[in-house]
Amino acid sequence: MDADRLISGVGRGAGEGAGVSGCPFHAGGPLPASDGVDEFAAFFEEAVAEGISTGPVSDRVAAEKARVAAGQPVALSTAELALAGRLAWRNQARCIGRLFWRSLLVRDARGVGDSVGMYTALCEHLAATTRQGEIRPVMTVFAPARPGRCGPIIRNRQLLGYAGYEEGGRVLGDPINRALTREALALGWQPPRERTAFDLLPWILVGEDERPALFPLPRELVMEVPLTHPTLPWFAELGLRWYAVPVVCDQRLRVMETDFTAAPFGGWYMGTEIGCRNLADEQRYNVLPAVADRLGLDRSRRDSLWRERALVELNAAVLHSYAAAGCRLVDHHTASDEFMRFCAMEKAAGREVSAAWDWIVPPLAGAATKVFHLPMQDRKLRPQFLPGEGRD
Ligand code: ARG
Repeated sequence: MDADRLISGVGRGAGEGAGVSGCPFHAGGPLPASDGVDEFAAFFEEAVAEGISTGPVSDRVAAEKARVAAGQPVALSTAELALAGRLAWRNQARCIGRLFWRSLLVRDARGVGDSVGMYTALCEHLAATTRQGEIRPVMTVFAPARPGRCGPIIRNRQLLGYAGYEEGGRVLGDPINRALTREALALGWQPPRERTAFDLLPWILVGEDERPALFPLPRELVMEVPLTHPTLPWFAELGLRWYAVPVVCDQRLRVMETDFTAAPFGGWYMGTEIGCRNLADEQRYNVLPAVADRLGLDRSRRDSLWRERALVELNAAVLHSYAAAGCRLVDHHTASDEFMRFCAMEKAAGREVSAAWDWIVPPLAGAATKVFHLPMQDRKLRPQFLPGEGRD
């Protein structure tokens, strides 16, 4: 499966569908599963408790069930939609950053299903989330899929991403965007005359009943961070950079059987997403050998631990550079502590946390973070994010 398309690529991207996950040495027995929970009832009970909906819950549940059974989308107020978006984040088993779920800004764009309207809303989304580095978590919810029709779709994996040009047997740029880059070129995208490994891709938007259309990336709204190292001056010469904010586009938001096929969502990065995965994975930018060579490490032996040493310096560069640029990003130790606080808060609220251990544990310093020692279960709670439809 394509692990990197998922909402919180901070783990190691192992399989889906497993029930209990956890450190194999600490795994307890299976925890009770939440199957059989009525999403409608649970949602409106919480919405009423939060003062967002008015009761009686049973009437509203019956009305919405009838509507959905008749093939209509669930009819939520804007405040209810915002709660649904926040709950989908709170339920996202792969995300370590959920302590902040209440702070999510949900933008109600359910009246927008055409690509031109989407373009405007996406530009606004980028501005609302970036804020010169003071990143704020934002979700924009576009028109839902109607019966028998495709809902609006954003073809890009994320609002920001670097082209991956196929050049003979190799790829210049980010190999994860190879297919999207091909698609953009076929639609007439003109890449910069001099192609680089960090060329930002345009957007490919598919409105309801429309063909895919190319839209220029609003460059003035994009923040990027060039990577430098706190003590190694040569690091800047590697020419590495990354963008400020990940906005995941290739998932649909599912709320009470209604699919919002375009519901881009993102917040600030955790450093290891960039330093351990995007730049380090062999199938991505694969920069560890170059970093190790500049560090003068012995790559002829695995047990010189050249990979680990290069990873540490690369991650140090990410943390240092985002801080220097005034761009919010969390280190994995802080994120792990925040996740433990999230678990405590959920417990205090009488809720069970749904979490996938293989995604929550950071790819650096695993056992040195608290989350490593925490048994977890993916309860598949709803509302939820699901992989987008019709993707390769
Ligand atoms: N792992 C993905 C990436 O590196 C981003 C997923 C969302 N992450 C987040 N911190 N909101 O681009």
